Amino acid sequence: MTDTRKENCPIHGDYSARVNAETGRWTRCWGCVEAEIQAQEAQDRQREKAAEAGQVLAQLLDSSGMEGRMLRASFESYEARTPAQAAVLTACKAFAESVDLDGGRNLWLIGPPGTGKTHLGSAIVSHLIRERGIPAAIYSAREIVRLLRATWGRNRDEDAETESEVIDRLGEIGLLVLDEVGVGFDKEAERTQILDVIDRRYKLGRPTVVLSNLHAKDVKPVLGPRAFDRLRDGAEMHICAWESHRKENR
Ligand SMILES: Nc1ncnc2c1ncn2[C@@H]1O[C@H](COP(=O)(O)OP(=O)(O)OP(=O)(O)O)[C@@H](O)[C@H]1O
Ligand SMILES: [Mg+2]
Ligand SMILES: [Zn+2]
Repeated sequence: MTDTRKENCPIHGDYSARVNAETGRWTRCWGCVEAEIQAQEAQDRQREKAAEAGQVLAQLLDSSGMEGRMLRASFESYEARTPAQAAVLTACKAFAESVDLDGGRNLWLIGPPGTGKTHLGSAIVSHLIRERGIPAAIYSAREIVRLLRATWGRNRDEDAETESEVIDRLGEIGLLVLDEVGVGFDKEAERTQILDVIDRRYKLGRPTVVLSNLHAKDVKPVLGPRAFDRLRDGAEMHICAWESHRKENR
């Protein structure tokens, strides 16, 4: 009884198969086995890459400052019922799609409560993260003060960011949306810290979005003149002057 025999693989041609004494099974074409191994490895690599991309996305969303309904806010879910709303939506979309990380472009949305400023700001952050893979975040002025204050205490969590880490992160992140500018920076120390953030962004040309209920001129004393001037430089301004969306939903 022979333990080898000639076989023919339609893809790889003739080969000699051997029988395994224990299992009684014949060996397969080595070319086919190798191709299967390579296909499996390619699939593993692809899975790994997808998992990494998923982790990166989760990490970017985790440090985006967005939570709850903000994470669901998108350009698609923004209803433009008037030409003015459509124009602001178009401008925000265009900004999110085209803004460079060193072009010094800023965008302001000014308007009364409920007009969708936070919605559009969140949509811009989401677009940068999800469609462009760019780190972006939205924080209200109050939250920034809280982030910075949290770095002062003695019982500070060891893993928590230090003050200069917060300033570096906000100063260097691809896109920053400053929400609810009008309240928050009450003390001179807080204005100095926000100036550090804005000045870093200004020097790098990083884009910043400002959302406020106040008229632009009234934002000046809130942020301090130096931060204000840097944010007004190269800024496009949009006024959201329509009914509150919140009222309609009541
Ligand atoms: N045009 C719109 N289409 C769909 N949803 C909208 C629109 N405008 C606002 N909303 C929704 O209405 C709610 C209030 O909007 P948002 O918080 O964005 O307003 P705001 O301008 O930031 O108000 P405030 O100045 O009080 O912070 C949110 O849930 C938002 O998703
Ligand atoms: Mg808001
Ligand atoms: Zn083969």
